Amino acid sequence: MTIQVKGARLLRSRIISTGSYVPERVITNFDLEKMVDTSDEWITERTGIKERRIADETQAASDLAYEAAKVALKNADLKIEDIDLIIVATVTGDMPFPSTACILQDKLGAKKAVAFDINAACSGFLYSLYVADSLIKSKMHKRVLIVGTEVLSKITDWDDRTTCVLFGDGAGAAIIEPTEEDRGIISMHINSDGSLWELLHMPGGGSRNPVSKDSLKKRLHYIKMKGNETFKVAVRTLEDLVVRTLEENKLEPSQLSLLIPHQANLRIIQATADRLGIPIDKVIVNLDRYGNTSAASIPIALDEAVRTGRIRDGDYILLEAFGGGLTWASALIKW
Ligand code: COA
Repeated sequence: MTIQVKGARLLRSRIISTGSYVPERVITNFDLEKMVDTSDEWITERTGIKERRIADETQAASDLAYEAAKVALKNADLKIEDIDLIIVATVTGDMPFPSTACILQDKLGAKKAVAFDINAACSGFLYSLYVADSLIKSKMHKRVLIVGTEVLSKITDWDDRTTCVLFGDGAGAAIIEPTEEDRGIISMHINSDGSLWELLHMPGGGSRNPVSKDSLKKRLHYIKMKGNETFKVAVRTLEDLVVRTLEENKLEPSQLSLLIPHQANLRIIQATADRLGIPIDKVIVNLDRYGNTSAASIPIALDEAVRTGRIRDGDYILLEAFGGGLTWASALIKW
């Protein structure tokens, strides 16, 4: 709940621009048929994915983030000196440390900014938005660049058909600043349940299982997912989340202009839309082209929606994500 002092203007934060980048290389379901025991039919039916973008050997998370950030800065007509905080959401950072945000800060020449990473897997972009929103409303920062960037292809086990068909690479960025207008981020919900961390994780490369010949042999440096269990929790949790977000803001689903969900599985997206009773043409779906790009998925979809004119000033839009941790989050925005 927001308490407003009579006569005082309500300070909100607002996304003033977006940008995104996906690598050029495309891997289709037909390409995957030649790599593992799968089929275009199975992948399309079970997930909705048709193809995904894959970074080249030289590209790391900060390289993709840099491309997306440049577009967002250009679209906002801002210089890098105008940014005072950079938050990067990723699970595929360039290296364990320093943060990918610091590497991005260097690439951008962002001398006046402070930079840090957030790890909330597929919910990372919305967690970053939550932090940016809070720091702007508390007047700690004035203009924040947030980027979701992933090179999941480098932690994907290309011999494991249960996961390798799902993921893709990309980055999306947004710039957030304060506003006293009747628009911006209306409310955010973020949640986590650490008791379910094992459903989706990468066991190797950290202090639990440092890289060793044995960890490599056991393929611990790749994504492990209990897909079916994760699917069930995701459907249930996201349905509750979107309903709660609208109810707490006294908004009817029919008042939403657009739903921008995390792009993991078309069946999960459809279930959420059905629960709200909104038609699929009010939902941004691009997982057929990009697969699941984790923290990059929502900002890429948001940027596409902005670029293709699917969001107009004054529209209510709902962003929602679910991912490893487990984590889940939503953002209700009046554009
Ligand atoms: N090609 C062909 N068959 C495959 C396959 C593939 N790529 N991957 C799995 N299968 C098989 C399984 O081996 C299983 O065979 P079996 O019945 O003989 O054992 C069968 O298909 C069904 O597997 P299951 O895992 O139950 O399928 P599913 O309907 O749950 O779909 C996912 C699998 C991964 C697509 C789905 O569970 C999913 O999307 N999970 C959630 C993803 C997600 O939201 N992640 C969190 C956010 S990032």
